[in-house]
Parts: sequence; C-alpha cells; structure tokens
Amino acid sequence: MNESGQQITRFHEALDVLARKTMEDERRLGVEFPYVTKPDGSWDTMYASRSAGYTGDDWSHGNWFCGFWVGLLLISHLHTGDADMLERARERMKLVAPRSADPNTHDIGFIFLSSALPAFHITGDPDYARIGLEAAAQLRARLVRTDAGAYVSSWGPLSDPRGRRSSAIDTMANLPLLYWAADVAGDDSFLVAGELHAKSTERAFIRPDLSTYHAVEYDLPSGDRQRGYTFQGYSDESFWSRGQGWAILGFAETARATGEYAYLALAHRLGDRFMQALGDATSAPWDFDDPAGAAATLDTAASAIVANAFLQIADLEPDMALAQKRREQGLRLLDDLCREHLSRDDSERGFLRHGCYSKPHNIGPDAAVLFGDYYFAEALLMATKPGALRAVPAKLSSTSA
Ligand code: GLY
Repeated sequence: MNESGQQITRFHEALDVLARKTMEDERRLGVEFPYVTKPDGSWDTMYASRSAGYTGDDWSHGNWFCGFWVGLLLISHLHTGDADMLERARERMKLVAPRSADPNTHDIGFIFLSSALPAFHITGDPDYARIGLEAAAQLRARLVRTDAGAYVSSWGPLSDPRGRRSSAIDTMANLPLLYWAADVAGDDSFLVAGELHAKSTERAFIRPDLSTYHAVEYDLPSGDRQRGYTFQGYSDESFWSRGQGWAILGFAETARATGEYAYLALAHRLGDRFMQALGDATSAPWDFDDPAGAAATLDTAASAIVANAFLQIADLEPDMALAQKRREQGLRLLDDLCREHLSRDDSERGFLRHGCYSKPHNIGPDAAVLFGDYYFAEALLMATKPGALRAVPAKLSSTSA
C-alpha cells in the first residue's frame, strides 16, 4: 500500500477507536457532558445548562463543550452507520438545545456549529435549523459598533463593560454559525456581522510577525486596540498555539462565506507561520514561546484545529498546486496525531492525548480536551468521508488578494 493508502487506513482505525470509546462513555455518562480528562484518565463532566458568567470578579466559561459531544456521536454514527448513535445524538441535543437562548457567550457558536448544524445536515430535521438560527441570533446580538467597524464581544452580558470592550481570537472560530445562518435564513445581516468581526480581528489581533494575540481590549468608540493580552497563553505577547489555529480556521471560513480570496490568503499566511514555528514536531506545544522549548507541554488540540483548517483551505484554494500542498500538510498533521498521540488505552478516556485546556489555570493542562477530540475527529471524517458531516465548499473563483 502506498503512503496515502496507509494514512487513510490509520484514519479509519482512529475513527474506530473514537466510535468505540464514545459509545462506551455515552452509556455511562448520564445527563452530564465530558470536557477534559482528569489525571486518572476519567472524564471530568458538567451539565449542559451551565452558562458563562461572572461570580464577583471570577469569570467562568460555563459549558461550551456540550455541542462537541453531540458532534462526536454524529461522527461516530457516520463512520460506523450505527443508527443508535444518531438516536443518542438526538437525545443529547434535547439537553443542549436550551443553550440556544444563552446571551452570555460567544461560545454559543462552538456549541451549535458542532451539534445542531451537522444534525440538520444529516437528518434535514427543521427543528435543528430553528435551534441553530436562534443561537446565531444570540451571537449576532453580541456585535459592538466602533468608529472603525464592529466586533463580536466574547464574554458576558454586553451591559458589563469588562466583556463589552474585549474579544478573543477564539471568536473567529465561532463565526461559522453566523455564516451558516446567513445561508439558511437568506439573511445577510449574519454575514455582515461575521465579516465585520473578521476585519476588526485582522486589524487588532495580528502582530507584525503573523502570530496572534489571544485577547484584545478595544478602546471605545475608536475601535483601536487598547491592549493585547492573554489568560490561557504563556504571556501577553507570546504565541499561543491554539489561538493561531482558531484564527486560521476563522479566516478560511470567512473566505468561504464571502467568496473573498484575501481572507484565504490571510489564512495561508497565518498557517505558514504556524508551520514555521512547529518545525519537525509531531504536535504544537501549548505556547510556542514557552521557554521550555522542545520540553514544553503539548497542545495536540492546536494541531488538530490547524489540520482541520488546512483541509478546508485546500477545498477552497483555486490554485491546484497550493491546494495540494495544504492538503498534504493537513493530512500529515493528522497522521502525526494518529501515530503519536491517539489514546487507544481504555483506562484513559478521550481520544487525543496531550491537549492543554488552560495551563495557567491548571485545568486540563495535559489531558484529552473535548474540543480537540472534536476537531480531530471532524478532520478525520473530512478525509475519509468528504461531505458527510458538512458540505464540501466550492473552490473560490479568484486568486486576486
Ligand atoms: N475558549 C477556547 C479555547 O480555550 O481555546
């Protein structure tokens, strides 16, 4: 078998592991949802209903993982053909659906683009479209206008100035919910909101060396960056690897939604920067500027997100040679994860070892993290069953940036 045949075989085997573990866990989880694994390998769990919010000065992100579990059940269903997995995803969706009215967090994008959207794609059930549109309206309502444009605020009610002035690089990866809503509802206000946010992020988050800030506090009303900072990276000026993945993914999705090649060109440049920092490693470190260098804690989720984004970029890129290069890079990243970081061990739940949710907070600092599992599994399915979970996009028509 040639190299690409061996890769596809490894991807199928990895998805077999995913489907087996997901079903085993689903049978014993009850009504809670997994988010990170504990040091003993078991899942830490949370109710889907837990919203983001402040308690005094302490911010909790709430449960922004629950949609990914639905997504993993759907991917397992598509990989195996097992109808019970689809039925279980539908049952889980009943627990997730009430979050579509949550006004407190940009993560409403993550929750529903991994659950209601693929559920709608697979089943055509209009109830999932209704839930997705309700969630998209909440995300659009987070738009804050500035003299320079507008951005989607990431955290908290907009009446709270702490959240209103700030946005995170992760928000880029929530935009696909808006872009999907624009298509399904035929309502361009969703598209305009997403593109305005992408433009603000391009202006305020990208450093001259093409690494990205984790978070930005905007000056209002000018919309200038008041400060760039982090809470999950090594330092305010450091190169947080997962944030770069969210940015690449979000600009690729913005290119797909707007048809503007300039956004794809930007996704390429951010991707090149990631690959340059990665070098020969089999996974990104949690932060490329951790002084521990090659001994730094890994974040396999960052690599999985970038692999996923590269496969999407390859679908969109009209230049066949460049598309091929990106696809090979994406497949290579996936293959490295399959060979080096896949968890086959039953005592250890989760799919991908060595994710890093938040090292500064010591939450899942070296663990399976559910969003890493999801973006990894989604990319594996894109490689083995293109179009099964989400439509394969048409190529952009122009390369003029
Ligand atoms: N909130 C998204 C992340 O932790 O990457």
